[in-house]
Amino acid sequence: MGKKIEIRANYELFSKAEELPAIEAELLLRAHAACDTAYAPYSEFRVGAAALLENGEIVLGSNQENAAYPSTICAERAAVFAAAAQFPGVVIRAVAIRVKTAGERVERPISPCGACRQVLFEFEWRQETPIQLLLQGDKGDIYRIASTKSLLPLLFDPSFL
Ligand code: THU
Repeated sequence: MGKKIEIRANYELFSKAEELPAIEAELLLRAHAACDTAYAPYSEFRVGAAALLENGEIVLGSNQENAAYPSTICAERAAVFAAAAQFPGVVIRAVAIRVKTAGERVERPISPCGACRQVLFEFEWRQETPIQLLLQGDKGDIYRIASTKSLLPLLFDPSFL
């Protein structure tokens, strides 16, 4: 029998944005508004992301789908890649991720997909600073996660190469 090792993750739960510092509440609002710029004719699942940079800039992203489905890019990757292109070398402090669906059917926090977690983590690794994640659906609970690391146990990072 191998030795059992447990990996723990933790996050903070908030029931409304007013419980957060003003800038974090604003970031969630901006991410929600960014959902309106999504191009999601195939899934009709409109995701928005807002990245807060160390210089105070907020860079937005939304999912951009494609008829060749795997060519789609998710909102959070769109946001952090845009931030890197527009403000190279500026640390990303936080990323808020929201969804806007017809009938507000997503009442739990949206969670970044595996590919986005990997990309977000590499930003952390490059900038040697964690990125705080703020997750919320159309409405309802908010999860605040101090680093993408907690979402990627046994992660693959550039030090393996
Ligand atoms: N999507 C995102 O933009 N971010 C996520 O974290 C999850 C999924 C997008 C990809 C696709 O356009 C649609 O949502 C449905 O999967």
